[in-house]
Amino acid sequence: MIAEVRRAAQILRAGGLVAFPTETVYGLGADASSATAVARLYAAKGRPADHPVIVHFADAERAFEWAREVPEAARKLAAKFWPGPLTLILKRSAKAKDFVTGGQDNVGLRVPSHPVAQALLRAFGGGVAAPSANRFGSLSATTAAHVADELNVELVLDGGASEVGIESTIVDLSGTNAVLLRPGRISKSQLEEVLKIKIQEKNSDSPRHSGGLERHYAPKTPAKLVPPYALDAEIAKRGSSVAVLAFSRPDERVDYWIRMPSEPQAYAQRLYAALRELDGAGCAAILIETPPATPEWVAVLDRLSRATG
Ligand code: TXA
Ligand code: MG
Repeated sequence: MIAEVRRAAQILRAGGLVAFPTETVYGLGADASSATAVARLYAAKGRPADHPVIVHFADAERAFEWAREVPEAARKLAAKFWPGPLTLILKRSAKAKDFVTGGQDNVGLRVPSHPVAQALLRAFGGGVAAPSANRFGSLSATTAAHVADELNVELVLDGGASEVGIESTIVDLSGTNAVLLRPGRISKSQLEEVLKIKIQEKNSDSPRHSGGLERHYAPKTPAKLVPPYALDAEIAKRGSSVAVLAFSRPDERVDYWIRMPSEPQAYAQRLYAALRELDGAGCAAILIETPPATPEWVAVLDRLSRATG
């Protein structure tokens, strides 16, 4: 792995693209200081050029060089949760160019904890722009094989299956209030506990400006959330033409059924791989049993509601 990481850092320096594991999902990385490298990144993903991208660093000190103001709240969250699955949006410094901020005055910064990501970021030294390593709008990749399935990249570093399984929590600290832009493994209440202030919520249904979050993390097969009490009737109606993601035991009427863990972190870890598998079954629809509407399921529910459009 050491030789591969060194080669990956060389590819980044030469303006190329490298996919690498993080604890959340796999990232597709490019030198965040290079306009041509980032342009190549957007082209590989099929992503609109005005979307901002998260810049990754080995440590908080390097990350904060890309912000012109580092509020106390950012220092507290970084001290508590970095390296880890948290992205901070801060006012940008001159290092964060328009091609990584989507022309906005703020920048997304993250220090991932995965040892391979850490090794790569240390070997490279600078900021690595990295969206999730999937085609724009589709499901994030949580294994090296998922990345290779859908993207043509020179090198994919294989760090095993991502432990968190869903993308980082994003907190916007660039304005007067702290705003949760994307829920994740690190919960709103964990953030509030550290900051001792209330964090505002961005309604996931509200329309987003071009710099907002992607609308979908969606499979190609139409997917539908079904409350537990309605699952049986829905299956009876549609029969074997559906694939099912549920908490309950497989039903003999359905050929493609994945039983999911009842614990939210274990569920999140397996979510994208499970949806990819069911997506490949060629069914008319994917039925997803709705998880409980409790705070510990917020991040999973956010991804499921996007997946079901
Ligand atoms: O866990 C993660 O965050 C993964 C891994 C690879 O680090 N990355 C990831 O990147 O999910 P991406 O590009 O797929 O999603 C990042 C989201 C995008 O929806 C983008 O619009 C938003 O973060 N974002 C990035 N920079 C932003 C900024 N300056 N202001 C507002 N939103 C921003
Ligand atoms: Mg993404």
